[in-house]
Amino acid sequence: MTHTRRYIDINPDDRSLALASDSIADPAAGEVLIKVAAAGINRADLMQRAGLYPPPEDASPIMGLEVAGTVLAVGAGVTDWQPGDPVCALTHGGGYADLALAPAGQCLPVPAGLDMTQAAALPEALLTVWHNIFQRAAMQPGENVLIHGGASGIGTLGIQMACAMGGEVYTTAGSDEKCAALEALGARRAFNYKIQDFEAACIDAGLRDRMNVILDLAGGDFIQKNLNLAAPEGRIVCIAFIRGFQAEVNFAPLLLKRLTLTGSTLRAQSFAQKALMCAELRQHIYPHLENGSIKPVIDRVFELADVAKAHDYMQSGAHMGKIVLRT
Ligand SMILES: NC(=O)c1ccc[n+]([C@@H]2O[C@H](COP(=O)([O-])OP(=O)(O)OC[C@H]3O[C@@H](n4cnc5c(N)ncnc54)[C@H](OP(=O)(O)O)[C@@H]3O)[C@@H](O)[C@H]2O)c1
Repeated sequence: MTHTRRYIDINPDDRSLALASDSIADPAAGEVLIKVAAAGINRADLMQRAGLYPPPEDASPIMGLEVAGTVLAVGAGVTDWQPGDPVCALTHGGGYADLALAPAGQCLPVPAGLDMTQAAALPEALLTVWHNIFQRAAMQPGENVLIHGGASGIGTLGIQMACAMGGEVYTTAGSDEKCAALEALGARRAFNYKIQDFEAACIDAGLRDRMNVILDLAGGDFIQKNLNLAAPEGRIVCIAFIRGFQAEVNFAPLLLKRLTLTGSTLRAQSFAQKALMCAELRQHIYPHLENGSIKPVIDRVFELADVAKAHDYMQSGAHMGKIVLRT
């Protein structure tokens, strides 16, 4: 059986966006077909649109890494999900559409008490934070965690996840208003990196050599500051390099404090690795989502047809938390 799908197409000549339609087959073995109610927007979508982040060969060329909606059909071998189930899912591309496929292991329940737009804001940030702060950096209760880009979709959820798991969270953001909101969200201190040197501010606050885990999306000149602030045996995890892939760095702290410097991208990992992240999230983070102690921060919701406006808004950097499309 085939289904008619409405999706957002990228014009390869001028990178403009337009609604288009095609037909999509029933889900293959191990896949779930979702009637999409809402799709989260990620910075990676803007890079894909600009031609700077080509999707993997086996992925959908349609933008969109996360959706929430209702299961329409399941492929052979799928036993965890049934038609009619409300889910949110990390797709393998193809989220900017009214129908999307996802590997069954990358589907998660819609947490009790959340609507579809809130659920669509979860998968990419949940898996990214879980993998980097908890699997790679193995954050322990009572540890100090510094999260750069606290006002991002990743940061707003990451602060809450780290707090819920017993971390003492510090963060950076680009305005005093964002910093105040992040402290209200649970960060012990938020530093405005645009008006102060966050390394000096941390040292003033008694945090020299005290950051056990650092999640960094900035890179560039932040790399040295991260190494300087890290605690002995500290773990620094890089997920993006907004301030630059290159820097001149004094690596002495790496040796002297026995630091771990690592990084990852979610997209490059296997379906099995992402399914394991989903299983661990259900065990450790879902109870906090369902009791309301972790809540996705949604800045604005746009209609699918207004996706270009949503991209412009993300590009402006004015947002705090997630931007979501309603399909
Ligand atoms: N490796 C992975 O697996 C993975 C997965 C998902 C996302 N990511 C990356 O994580 C980042 C956040 O993603 P998102 O979708 O949540 O995007 P987003 O909401 O647009 O966040 C972008 C963040 O970057 C910060 N920023 C912008 N310019 C900066 C600068 N010059 N110096 C320091 N900070 C700066 C912004 O902070 P202010 O607004 O406060 O200035 C904002 O918090 C993106 O870079 C994305 O590519 C990586």
